[in-house]
Amino acid sequence: MISLKQIILSKKVPTSFLKKPDLWQRALFSTQYAPKVPPPEESQTPGSLALALAKETSIPISQIRVQCATDFNVFRHISAVPVTASLGAEISGVDLSQPLSDDVMEEIWSAFLLFGVIFFREQKLTPDQQLAFAKRFGEPDRHPIVKGLESHPDVLEIVREAGAPTNFGEAWHSDNSYMAEPSLGSILHAVEVPPVGNDTMFSCAYGAYDGLSPKMRNFIDDLRAVHTAGVAFNPSTVSGGSYDNPESAMKYERSQDLFSTNLHPVVRVHPETGRRGIFVNEMFTTEIEGLVKSESKQLLELLFSQFGLPHTSCRFRWKAGDVAMWDNRCLQHVAIGDNSSHKRVMRRVTLKGDKPQ
Ligand code: SIN
Repeated sequence: MISLKQIILSKKVPTSFLKKPDLWQRALFSTQYAPKVPPPEESQTPGSLALALAKETSIPISQIRVQCATDFNVFRHISAVPVTASLGAEISGVDLSQPLSDDVMEEIWSAFLLFGVIFFREQKLTPDQQLAFAKRFGEPDRHPIVKGLESHPDVLEIVREAGAPTNFGEAWHSDNSYMAEPSLGSILHAVEVPPVGNDTMFSCAYGAYDGLSPKMRNFIDDLRAVHTAGVAFNPSTVSGGSYDNPESAMKYERSQDLFSTNLHPVVRVHPETGRRGIFVNEMFTTEIEGLVKSESKQLLELLFSQFGLPHTSCRFRWKAGDVAMWDNRCLQHVAIGDNSSHKRVMRRVTLKGDKPQ
């Protein structure tokens, strides 16, 4: 019989251990949760078991994240080191430019779901390789307003020229939440970055929701909110890209999506982890259905203010070659435009998502 201590010391979860659900459950978390966790099937991998814990229990996801990665090292093909207790992990042991096995991809997907955002250092991806990696997870989403690379329309080049006043994405947001089916996730690759500054911050939507009182959570649970691209991409105020200037590094199109609106739940239930998170963001959400204007404005301000809090956020300092892959269904991010003296070039591929529930 394998002891808990042996498992922790070996930093691996042996297959024989997976067949002993009681041990698995006790080892991972306190026994009070164990009865709620379904017994693992033999075919289940440690990553998917960790997700089952996220889905079936009320254990705080931050605890699951940290314990899975640090105490139990649930991954076999990759290494995942959390960057904070609340979200984010650095993944090593993979070269994203190469075709990866299904086992490795399954673990990357599990880590993506568990940590919300995962970081891969020192990768070197051509647009074809970035797209090939993205396509292992789903179909790329073409940006409806900003034009992609001429050679690869599904790859968005996010450029800030030296001296430009702002970065693209300089307000908290979930990518393309104004679409009827907002982008599931995003894969951002740093091509050229300043020596310091212009980091990206991420903030956990589950943590934002869990931070509210039960009464407030109850109040917002069934509300819906209006999302639109029309403010952030308003042709008369937008900066950092251009609708009319052919010289501009980023080119915007006056597409129909600029003027359409979509209603999404204020609290989104993640289709894979089952966790609830706040799904309104300051870049694209303009009002809450059914409230008078001042109520809607103040409630949105309260909900926006749950993002960027120290306990539920992380910050990524880029080096050229790094890749971040995040889940737009359960976090928001912001590009911090604090260095205008250097050029910054990033390439982003987003994945098609589903209708938020
Ligand atoms: C984005 O909003 O997707 C871009 C983030 C960044 O460039 O840091």
